[in-house]
Amino acid sequence: HHDAGSASAAVRPGAGSAHGKAILLGEHAVVYGAPAIAIPVDELTARVDIAPSSGGLRIESALYTGPLADAPARLAPVSAAIAEACSRLGAPDPQGPDALVRIDSKIPHERGLGSSAAVAAALIRAIYDSASADLDADTLFELIQTSERAAHGSPSGIDARTVTSPVPIRFTRGESAPVRIGAPLHLAFADSGSSGSTTRAVGVVRALRERDPVRTEALLARLAQVAEGSVADLETGDRSALGARMGEAHDILRRVGVSSPELDALVAAAHAAGSPGAKLTGGGLGGCVIAIAGSPAHAVDLSAALRRAGAHSTWTVEVPAA
Ligand code: MEV
Repeated sequence: HHDAGSASAAVRPGAGSAHGKAILLGEHAVVYGAPAIAIPVDELTARVDIAPSSGGLRIESALYTGPLADAPARLAPVSAAIAEACSRLGAPDPQGPDALVRIDSKIPHERGLGSSAAVAAALIRAIYDSASADLDADTLFELIQTSERAAHGSPSGIDARTVTSPVPIRFTRGESAPVRIGAPLHLAFADSGSSGSTTRAVGVVRALRERDPVRTEALLARLAQVAEGSVADLETGDRSALGARMGEAHDILRRVGVSSPELDALVAAAHAAGSPGAKLTGGGLGGCVIAIAGSPAHAVDLSAALRRAGAHSTWTVEVPAA
């Protein structure tokens, strides 16, 4: 029970942001406990602002604008993050406060770039900022995971860790450790233009693992080795060794059934344009390809080649030495 006074209590403004992510190596195997390497993508960010408003809790986003209570099913992860964060903060009724939650994400949706986790992270940070409450890394991780489970089944947690990490990470079983980058890494990203459903892609691998366990386990084990081996390449700045591992990883991901003709064509185009290695990134079955470049200028050239090969859009991304 609460009276009209508390139901209309004004919230304080709050803001939060988070960046996108890309998995360099180890997606899918990471779901089964293998290590994976992921980088923050500062070029693509999500921001959430909370402002006092009237008429209950309203959402304003590219996907939907209106009362949270009437939001479509695809906003379930946003609702889950709000409900869980409010309940942790002891806010009695997450549907109650008169507030406008504005979501502004530059991260393409369903392209394997961590859009859902970054929006959740920005939202949770904004809610804690509005409440002037401290937010530690593990609470943030758990809250993002609540949202991610509403988005896609059984997330490994790599997205949740990467979208809140300032540096590249090696992730395994919920834990992340920074990876040293010996020389700046230049990448071209290419969006295939079709969306990838992480739930569906993870389901494809699970089904293959049930049908053909010996072969699938061997492929996933090799993905794990390739990811583990890349830590040394990143430390020494060995682009050609890293590229060879990425090419092998793409081939394995294709064999476990999560690539697509469009992704394969973009990988081939990157290799033809002189990339030491390219692969799909994230869940696959659509989404993006990442390609190693030799220099910032080469990353621009690779982007142009990828657009000529049919990419919907491209970006260049630099991972600084750290
Ligand atoms: C999604 O970014 C990466 C996958 O390995 C799924 C997961 O780790 O939850 C495909």
